[in-house]
Amino acid sequence: MTDARQGLTGLLDTEAIRKDFPLLDRTVHDGKKIVYLDSAATSQKPRQVLDALNTYYERHNANVHRGVYTIAEEATALYEGARDKVAAFINAPSRDEVIFTKNASESLNLVANMLGWADEPYRVDRDTEIVTTEMEHHSNIVPWQLLAQRTGAKLKWFGITDDGRLDLSNIDEIITEKTKIVSFTLVSNILGTVNPVETIIRRAQQVGALVCIDASQAAPHMVLDVQALQADFVAFTGHKMVGPTGIGVLWGRQELLEDLPPFLGGGEMIETVSMHSSTYAPAPHKFEAGTPPIAQAVGLGAAVDYLSSIGMEKIHAHEKAITEYAVKRLLEVPDLRIIGPATAENRGATISFTLGDIHPHDVGQVLDELGIAVRVGHHCARPVCLRYGIPATTRASFYLYSTPAEVDALVDGLEHVRNFFG
Ligand code: ALA
Repeated sequence: MTDARQGLTGLLDTEAIRKDFPLLDRTVHDGKKIVYLDSAATSQKPRQVLDALNTYYERHNANVHRGVYTIAEEATALYEGARDKVAAFINAPSRDEVIFTKNASESLNLVANMLGWADEPYRVDRDTEIVTTEMEHHSNIVPWQLLAQRTGAKLKWFGITDDGRLDLSNIDEIITEKTKIVSFTLVSNILGTVNPVETIIRRAQQVGALVCIDASQAAPHMVLDVQALQADFVAFTGHKMVGPTGIGVLWGRQELLEDLPPFLGGGEMIETVSMHSSTYAPAPHKFEAGTPPIAQAVGLGAAVDYLSSIGMEKIHAHEKAITEYAVKRLLEVPDLRIIGPATAENRGATISFTLGDIHPHDVGQVLDELGIAVRVGHHCARPVCLRYGIPATTRASFYLYSTPAEVDALVDGLEHVRNFFG
């Protein structure tokens, strides 16, 4: 054990937790135990979630909201039960505010399209402005660019400081009386920065703008209380929070969901249909056209149960300890530059870095030979790389099953990379 590892507090019992995650037992490259440091891309799945998916398909599979037979009613109860679980997990005032989508990208696109087709007072048009930030994932940039192109609205954004924080020095010029929507990430997927939500929301509320939060990198790692956040929309995805792929969530304030128009049309989102016109079902069904991701929602419900059984505060404390340790150890590696906050304060468990002039793809490949899985590239946040004048980063991201020993393995691996490239 390195000296730095002593005194780490708040760690979870990872030995017990890791037994729930079959993949973490895998070996690669002739028996090298996998060191999975890419949970920001997708988390591994516990047996409890895998079992829920299997049981659903083996015993209850039927379409929802349609059949009157037993297993169709069971499937509907499981699907709607998952909505209850998610609503409780995020402290939503009403289960009807939880819309199931296929991922966070779809959730964010849904908001952009609702506003694009909305009537006053929500309508985005050529006299209005949309605000986002330079540290967004592409999924919180491109939908707004598309909306701006379609409507003629102006797209504005907050820049990033040298140390990886949002530059809010010009907040009153960025968010103005013309702003209709401010959409930003709670935690950056590339920099790890946790953003000052309250400051941004306060200004948005002053000018009557709506606020949409991308919580994809927050929901898996910290208590997410939509009532405390005071945003209008919150988007996140299931697969980063030990759930399956193919399921995302959009939470929206009930009165907005009642007022705003649907984006996708189809079965299940209607009240009545004639050849001339249709009326729509109330939210959330108005926004869930077609057969929804039923098994995936059930899996997400099991994921929420799993995380809740451990406790989000405890998971957050564990990651904070691991992050503190990782920042400290990584800064010991010669030529390593952290891209983003180089402290453990107000940051999530995702750390991007460069290593001298070794290309991140080479770093990733040599680490992979040692069994260490990290993500390399622009992480779907290319404007951040442009901001720092770099083509890409190497990114290590940690979760409830990550251990200090894995941080040590990464640091040793990086020494190996440096030696390898001379
Ligand atoms: N959004 C995922 C990531 O940051 C894929 O890696």
